[in-house]
Amino acid sequence: MSILLKGGRVVDPSRNLDGVKDILIEEGKIAAIADSMDDTTGETRVVHLEGKVVLPGLVDMHTHLREPGYEYKETIRSGSEAAAAGGFTSIACMPNTDPVNDSRAVTEYIVKRAGECNLVHVYPVAAISLRSEGRTLAEFGDLKEAGAVAFSDDGKPVVDSGLMRRALEYASSLGLVIIPHCEDLSLSAGGLMNEGRISTELGLPGIPTLAEEVMIARDLLLAEYTGAALHISHVSSAGSVRMIRNAKARGIPVTAETAPHYFTLTDEALRDFDPSFKVNPPLRSPLDRKAIREGLRDGTLDVIATDHAPHAATDKEVEFEYAASGISGLETALALSLRLVDDGLLTLSELVRKMSTNPAKILNIPGGALLPGADADITVFDPDRSWIVDPLSWRSKGKNSPFFGWTLKGKVLMTLVKGRVVYSED
Ligand code: DOR
Ligand code: ZN
Repeated sequence: MSILLKGGRVVDPSRNLDGVKDILIEEGKIAAIADSMDDTTGETRVVHLEGKVVLPGLVDMHTHLREPGYEYKETIRSGSEAAAAGGFTSIACMPNTDPVNDSRAVTEYIVKRAGECNLVHVYPVAAISLRSEGRTLAEFGDLKEAGAVAFSDDGKPVVDSGLMRRALEYASSLGLVIIPHCEDLSLSAGGLMNEGRISTELGLPGIPTLAEEVMIARDLLLAEYTGAALHISHVSSAGSVRMIRNAKARGIPVTAETAPHYFTLTDEALRDFDPSFKVNPPLRSPLDRKAIREGLRDGTLDVIATDHAPHAATDKEVEFEYAASGISGLETALALSLRLVDDGLLTLSELVRKMSTNPAKILNIPGGALLPGADADITVFDPDRSWIVDPLSWRSKGKNSPFFGWTLKGKVLMTLVKGRVVYSED
């Protein structure tokens, strides 16, 4: 059935479009975008969207789906449902499953399972090294053939610089990006939260920003030397933003992401020892948060990714020291990011670029634009609707959100993938 999205504010940064338009969807594709269209056949579903916003479907390049191996935390199905509810039409899933996605078999399994779920596009990110142990490179060529769109040992750093150099060279020859988890374990070991005044006051062992920055410095040098594309994940500190800004100015092929919790929260939130605020890298100081926001504003940080890290209550609701790190983020990312627009830091178009156009471009996957002839992957949200964060009502199995009870503005109303409604608020 054809669908006509009528009267919404259509924002497509890929071609500087921001205005009231109608979008006609036929056979899963965008058939036309025009100032005004009417259904003459009587067979089109007309959706009136006055006062609502229509975007190219959001793309999350950093999601943890937990399947295979940790289905009690999240499955490909529950994660896909959460993505659709959050307005995401494409997600890239990290390889720290069990087994780790370091083989054609696991990559193919994820692609097949996602196809059976038939909700959002799921793109596997495969491991850089076997079992993500940092010793032996995975078979990048095989993994690409099976469907991998990037390589990462997310959750663990590649300590061996020689191995990282070869990973960059090998990935670059295949046209794929490396996404490092930048953490010098000799500096972060034993740490539970950001190292600073608050960790001292609380008596908790700290993780210095230096742990992240030392590794970013190394990886920027390797990217410069090899000329290979590098995408820095979950940037959390002012020093990291500064180094990436300088690297970009010098022409190093680097892109970078941060996540909503890093531009929203600080380590002050740890005072109650609530494990829902425990994440790696940790929430940093107000100065770091300010720098992250400035990095988003000036374009140093290209992408807002969720780092959706769902955990079960049994992993999280334990003493702080033993609690798993991570925040379930798919269902709050858009509303938290819209606060940047409210604050005047980004235009809506710039925000959509960071949550759709840029991640699609970096991973070289379809999406990120509303183009006639392309798949109708579209997100519709109500910019004025406020809602209260209640993870118990979420699609994600991961109820681990530090935003429990917050009132947020901007609610996803409808998510379409290939012209099919995969989520609808009713
Ligand atoms: O907090 C985190 N959780 N950081 C990571 O790097 C991994 C992630 C996870 O998989 O839970
Ligand atoms: Zn991650």
